[in-house]
Amino acid sequence: MKSFSNVMVAGLGVLGAQIAYQVAYSGANVTGYDINTGALDDGRHRLEQLRKRYAHNPGTRDPGDAQLALDRIKLTSDLQEAASGAELVIEAVPENLDLKRTFYQKLAPLLSPTAVIATNTSTLLPSDLAASTGRPEKFLALHFANEVWIHNTAEVMGTPATDPTIYQQVVSFAHEIGMIPIEIKKEQAGYLLNSLLVPWLQAASSLFMRGVAEPEMIDLTWRTATGAPTGPFQVFDVIGIRTAYAVSVAGDQTQQEFAAYLKEHLLDQGKFGKESGEGFYHYPAQTQNSPSS
Ligand SMILES: NC(=O)c1ccc[n+]([C@@H]2O[C@H](COP(=O)([O-])OP(=O)(O)OC[C@H]3O[C@@H](n4cnc5c(N)ncnc54)[C@H](O)[C@@H]3O)[C@@H](O)[C@H]2O)c1
Repeated sequence: MKSFSNVMVAGLGVLGAQIAYQVAYSGANVTGYDINTGALDDGRHRLEQLRKRYAHNPGTRDPGDAQLALDRIKLTSDLQEAASGAELVIEAVPENLDLKRTFYQKLAPLLSPTAVIATNTSTLLPSDLAASTGRPEKFLALHFANEVWIHNTAEVMGTPATDPTIYQQVVSFAHEIGMIPIEIKKEQAGYLLNSLLVPWLQAASSLFMRGVAEPEMIDLTWRTATGAPTGPFQVFDVIGIRTAYAVSVAGDQTQQEFAAYLKEHLLDQGKFGKESGEGFYHYPAQTQNSPSS
C-alpha cells in the first residue's frame, strides 16, 4: 500500500507537470490544479509531452503504462474540487513567498485535517511558509530536480515543527514514486545539491574571471583529476546560461563580472547552453550529449 494514494499537485508548470506525471506513473491518483483554463491547457500539453517521453524511455515496462498514467491525472482549476480527497498536496506554484503563502491560506480550509502539504520550493525555507499552511506539523519540503525521470533525487527537508512520522511517510512516498529520497536533517537554503553545486561553480567562474585559466583547462583539470564526467563549464551549459546569468548577476563583484561576460559573449549571441546547441561548448545537433569545443 502506498503512503499516499490521492495526491494533489498545485501548479502544472515545468516542475508541477513532471511531478504529477511521475506520481501518476507510480500508480497513485493525481489531481492537477492550476489557476485557469489557459494554464490548465498548458499543463495538459506538458503532460502529453511527458506521456510521449515516458512511452519511449529506455527501461519503460510497457508503453501502455504511459497512457495509463495520463488517465490517472484529473485536471481542474477549481481549488475546492482539487483539495477534496487529497491526502498529500505537492505545491509547485511560482517561486514567490507571498504568492505561496496566499495560496496556502486559500487551500488550507478546503483540505482534510489529516492532509500533508509539501512544497517544491527551490530557494525559500519551509519555515517561512509553515504558518500559512495552518498545519506546520504536517508541512515540509519535497524538492524535485528538473527532468525527474533522469535526475530522480527528492530532497526531503522538514522544519523544527514537522512531525517526524510525517517526515518518514514522505521519505517512503518519495521512494515509492521512483525517487531517491535525500534526507536532510536540518533546514538548509539550497538543500544539499545546490549547497554543493553553487560554490563549486562560483569557484570555477572566479578562476576564469581572474584570468587564472580558460574554461576548457578548468574543466579538463576537474575531469582528469576526479574522474567526474563533466567540469563546471560543461555543467553551466546543462543548467542553461539564462539561469547561470540570473544567479551570477545577484552575486559579488566577480560574479557580476561573470554575468556581464555571459551576457556579452553568450546570451546576446543566442547561445543559451546545451538546449540551444551552444554555450561554452558547441553541441552538434545529432550528438547533443557530447560537447566539442
Ligand atoms: N524549474 C525548475 O528547474 C525547478 C526545479 C526544482 C524546483 N522548482 C520549484 O518549483 C516551483 C515551480 O517552478 P516551475 O519552474 O515549475 O514554475 P512554472 O512557472 O513553470 O510553473 C508555475 C505554475 O504555477 C501556476 N500558478 C501561477 N500562479 C498560481 C497561483 N496563484 N496558484 C496556483 N498556481 C499558480 C502557473 O500557472 C504555472 O502553471 C517553484 O517553487 C520552483 O522553485 C523549479
